[in-house]
Amino acid sequence: RRSVKKITTGSKDLDELLGGGVETQAITEFFGEFGSGKTQICHQLAVNVQLPEDEGGLEGSVIIIDTENTFRPERIIQMAEAKGLDGNEVLKNIYVAQAYNSNHQMLLVDNAKELAEKLKKEGRPVRLIIVDSLMSHFRAEYVGRGTLADRQQKLNRHLHDLMKFGELYNAAIVVTNQVMARPDVLFGDPTKPVGGHIVAHTATFRIYLKKGKDDLRIARLIDSPHLPEGEAIFRVTERGIED
Ligand code: GTP
Ligand code: MG
Repeated sequence: RRSVKKITTGSKDLDELLGGGVETQAITEFFGEFGSGKTQICHQLAVNVQLPEDEGGLEGSVIIIDTENTFRPERIIQMAEAKGLDGNEVLKNIYVAQAYNSNHQMLLVDNAKELAEKLKKEGRPVRLIIVDSLMSHFRAEYVGRGTLADRQQKLNRHLHDLMKFGELYNAAIVVTNQVMARPDVLFGDPTKPVGGHIVAHTATFRIYLKKGKDDLRIARLIDSPHLPEGEAIFRVTERGIED
């Protein structure tokens, strides 16, 4: 096992909650309701992973598996320029693939390996792979109780493929998961699995996001074996993710 590295989220408070940032060789799941900032965090990480190590990056490329067609190049440019970077240069290191269904989504992880091999040789190693969102196709395709076991089995394989990718390339794995606002998660038993047992048990870090006032967002670490539970507050601004 190579040494684990970390990517800054752009918020010191959120980085601290995560033990320094988003880790390589681990699955970090951001879950929460619509507009809670999951996709914004993904965009920010796609920029930040390219930064030098002393600025919280890994000088790496990123692969994004986009299942909902929510990747926005203009937003990347905006976030990059806020850091004094050339937006178009930053975009060149972001490889986006649209997943049309759950089988295709899984196939794209295989394809990611080929791309990662190529980029490694070119000296632009992939240090981050994002699936935004993890569950949307699975949820849409597997409806009704009879098919739940099949879905979980496939999802389990998908998550293990992603984990293998992360270990092979020393890359961080970030997945998002939309869930309805649940008062029991906020104030009651936060260890109840949300989005299925498989995700809850495979993800190394699970962060519940909720909307606060205006551009404020609250992040809560759920169920982490290594880190203290707690909350962080960050903002989604024109510049991106900030304290
Ligand atoms: P779903 O995918 O629908 O579940 O939501 P999500 O959690 O991915 O939400 P997302 O990250 O897309 O957050 C959307 C919110 O981010 C918006 O409501 C805005 O508050 C903020 N946001 C998105 N783009 C911009 C932008 O360009 N500028 C600013 N200031 N805020 C933005
Ligand atoms: Mg989203």
